[in-house]
Amino acid sequence: MTDQDPKSRSGSSRRDFLRGSSLAAATAVLTGPAQVALDEATGAEPEVKVLTGEVSLTLKVNGEEKTCKVEPRSTLLDTLRHRLDITGPKRVCDRASCGACTAIVDGVPVYSCTTLAVTCTGKTIETLESFGTDANSVPHAFHQADGLMCGYCTPGFVTACKAFLDKNPNPTLDEVKKGLDGNICRCGTYMGVLEAALAAAKAMKGA
Ligand code: FES
Ligand code: FES
Repeated sequence: MTDQDPKSRSGSSRRDFLRGSSLAAATAVLTGPAQVALDEATGAEPEVKVLTGEVSLTLKVNGEEKTCKVEPRSTLLDTLRHRLDITGPKRVCDRASCGACTAIVDGVPVYSCTTLAVTCTGKTIETLESFGTDANSVPHAFHQADGLMCGYCTPGFVTACKAFLDKNPNPTLDEVKKGLDGNICRCGTYMGVLEAALAAAKAMKGA
């Protein structure tokens, strides 16, 4: 396990890591009341910002600045799919369990179904639309290894795999298993997924 593996640093799995990233996103929005309490305690005039209706949002997705209007409660998944027509991330469980909605935010794989879009401004967002399909790409490796059946989980696995390999270019099989454990395949194509991940690691190095 490399020192870049989230599990090696924290002792928790990528599933914990992904849940943590979603909670962190929520926390960023929920700090308002705490600030009000602090202002009241110090006698300062409280500044309460209540976001209602739709807000204008600019997100950097796959290298392009894209602007849209969303309600502040909108998730990244809804914003990508319904406002920006980026449909690679899929909605399956919609509750941070399956990983089908995985997107990469500032290099970190997140469950976009439980990440607020407003917390992603100023960050770099990647979805599988940007990965390409050439012989050295992760999507190509999944195709070659037959790493899917129904395909519902596949966009999330491909995205999680890309994020993992970008930080762990020489993984062992065990490291790949841990690195992708935030994603679930109901069809049970795990052997194909693992084979694809190891093949993609080799291909990305030009081996
Ligand atoms: S749809 Fe987001 S984790 Fe399942
Ligand atoms: S291929 Fe069907 S859920 Fe994974």
